[in-house]
Amino acid sequence: MTQSEFKRVVWRYYKNYGRHELPWRKTKDPYKILVSEVMLQQTQVERVIPFYAEFTRRFPTARKLAAAPLGEVLATWQGLGYNRRAKMLRQAAKEIVEKHGGRFPRSAAELEELPGIGHYTANAVAAFAFNKDAVFVETNIRTAILHGFFSTRTSTGPPTRGAPAARPILPLAGGPASMRVSDREILQVLKRMLPRGKSRQWNLALMDYGAHLKKSGVKLNAKSKHYAKQSKFAGSNRQARGAILKELARGSAAEPRVLGLLGDNRRAQLASALTALQKEGLIQKRGKVFTLPR
Ligand code: ADE
Repeated sequence: MTQSEFKRVVWRYYKNYGRHELPWRKTKDPYKILVSEVMLQQTQVERVIPFYAEFTRRFPTARKLAAAPLGEVLATWQGLGYNRRAKMLRQAAKEIVEKHGGRFPRSAAELEELPGIGHYTANAVAAFAFNKDAVFVETNIRTAILHGFFSTRTSTGPPTRGAPAARPILPLAGGPASMRVSDREILQVLKRMLPRGKSRQWNLALMDYGAHLKKSGVKLNAKSKHYAKQSKFAGSNRQARGAILKELARGSAAEPRVLGLLGDNRRAQLASALTALQKEGLIQKRGKVFTLPR
């Protein structure tokens, strides 16, 4: 596919079927957009919607989030998982208040200086809140680009004008690592193709088109060097950590109670999760009981 064909397809899809009603797309408030992007990083859109509503209701501004006790933030996040994200978000809010005087940084470079904000999140906020000419790789965008530019063998000759070099079709499992496509290559394609001044809509369009491809059964991310399948939840440390935070969100609890949360054969796992959570500052021990931090 040439770049201009690809663009036409993506824009048309977006105009007809774009998810324009998603709550974080109806705001340009960079704080709320940051909250949504952090929530969406490892979590499906449908699951995020109610958490986004409740979180932004409880903490409607960076100032409010920065001033809230961490325990309250974690309790509101509870059920969404990957709770370190909540602590990091509050830390970023604190920095916006303390170092930037409450003025939200507008460039991707400044945003990336905030604690816990990586290349993806910084550029997504710059695009969606400020319409900055920014490119970034997110799972659906990756699928869209792999599908459009890296999935078909055209010929062994020179690449179509305007399109990146075509690659041979890779086996479904992803093929040898050397043949997988790196995010650096995907970023190059994205940079070349970005319609200047339309970054907000274009990046949303790419996401929606990629999500549509996935729903239609296109499985291309195994061809990426960077795609990581989410690990199984049942039996995981993630589950053990979630169970502890859920219990402590209801109130403080003594160690024996916490260790028994998932049945006898997972006591050791809960014990190490307790230690890790304490080290990360997500829980505290006060006397004989564990609590969420103040
Ligand atoms: N809209 C804005 N950001 C999004 C994301 N990360 N996933 C899905 N829809 C979005």
